[in-house]
Amino acid sequence: MNTLIHPRTEQALRLPGPAGYPLVGALPTILREGVFEYVERCWREYGDFFQIPTAGRSRIIFTAHPDAIERILHTRVDNYYKGKGYDPLRPLLGNGLITSTGDFWVRQRKLTQPAFHMDNLRRMVPVMARCVEDMLGEWEARRRSGAVLDLHAESMHLAQRIVGFTLFGMDLSDREAASSRAVTESLEIAGQRMNRGALTLPLSVPTPANLRFRRALRTLDEIVYDIIGHARKAGPEAQPTLLRLLMEARDDGPGDGMSDQQLRDEIVTHYVAGHETTALILTWTFWFLGQHPDVYAKVREEIAGLGLTGAPAIEDLDRLTYTRMVFDEVMRLRPPVWAQTRTTREDDVLMARRIPADSFVMFSAYFCHHHPAFWDEPSEFRPERFTPERVRARHRYAHIPFSAGPRACIGKRYAIYELSTALALILTRFRIDVLPGQDVGIRPTATVHPDRPIYAHLRGPGR
Ligand code: HEM
Repeated sequence: MNTLIHPRTEQALRLPGPAGYPLVGALPTILREGVFEYVERCWREYGDFFQIPTAGRSRIIFTAHPDAIERILHTRVDNYYKGKGYDPLRPLLGNGLITSTGDFWVRQRKLTQPAFHMDNLRRMVPVMARCVEDMLGEWEARRRSGAVLDLHAESMHLAQRIVGFTLFGMDLSDREAASSRAVTESLEIAGQRMNRGALTLPLSVPTPANLRFRRALRTLDEIVYDIIGHARKAGPEAQPTLLRLLMEARDDGPGDGMSDQQLRDEIVTHYVAGHETTALILTWTFWFLGQHPDVYAKVREEIAGLGLTGAPAIEDLDRLTYTRMVFDEVMRLRPPVWAQTRTTREDDVLMARRIPADSFVMFSAYFCHHHPAFWDEPSEFRPERFTPERVRARHRYAHIPFSAGPRACIGKRYAIYELSTALALILTRFRIDVLPGQDVGIRPTATVHPDRPIYAHLRGPGR
């Protein structure tokens, strides 16, 4: 209910921001420039808090200030829910953990959380290590032949393999190409639908994009129901995985557990959320290490100090404190999820501005991570920003690659252990020489990609 602001006063509350076209607002400009580029331009011009004109009567309020983000994710989290901004993702992710809300989300989060507890992560690290070792076996032949490696393609294969084995207990490699294409395509179309907002045509309208979207969803469903079928056949004695845990999950009261539809939604959600994100960070880590030989040398030295002869233990990974600072800095500069949205239930005050109920609020980790009031020379790569003292001295919401508050990433520790295992084993075995002369920028879609492939040569570790 709008209790604070009468519609007639709304005009007076207009926040600073760009003008738009009648009826369609900023949409033509956003479609022409790209939403990230548009937001970046406005952020430079209007600062921490502005309003983007949209189609119809709705409004988008944008912020990149940690104070506002703290209020959205923590202080008034009850007032900022995942509303219509997530609708375009629902045909893909259904009612899984990313898109669900309210009591249903609370229940699903409670049922899923144990899969990411330390005892399970401890069991998963050797599985992750085996996936890395398999890849390194293939890399050895490529090193000998002097082949060039496409780092992001390799990181994506690895992350898919790891998600398949650790979460679903399955080798997804034979389905990798099909599932990967289906996910990429459906995410891309969901992104376009998000940008169009109120002007999006329903999925039932057979436009070429809608038909491609529906085809991609069918492919994905076939793969996922096959995974569920296999898991049901494997029986309860099969190795513990996220899928098994969800299949066996029961509430306190009498209940039948999750339907196949709900299992499908959680599998797609964890598959989508759990591989491209980590793959991007691994790719960007190689890139930044390639540009900063001094940092590369320190990371290698720290990893060499573990004296690994096989899979690392969790305790080994916990000792990689400098490497963790490097990951934090990579995630600052290239947070895979560059923006999130929420809808307000009631009127609220953000950054000393009143915003009405039912506003659409967009906040951005990327721009928050580049905020000059919180980061010196924000575009520079400096892992030393993440020493414990400097982290303590900084605003807690200035670095939010995994989001924060109750809806923070459930896979955060899993991701850090995966990245640490991968980097430790890779740099123990090889030296990655990123080819010189590559001018790599960013290509922001739903996530922050490199704008071209990043190529590297492999060498023995000592050279
Ligand atoms: C570097 C890697 C990762 C990054 C940067 C990352 C980032 C994020 C962010 C920003 C959110 C909030 C999204 C939103 O509210 O719209 C999120 C949520 C989520 N992430 Fe991650 N993620 C990573 C890895 C993973 C992994 C490995 C998994 C699973 C294996 C995972 C599963 C999820 C799930 C299920 C949610 C929804 C949680 C909820 O709302 O309860 N993520 N992640």
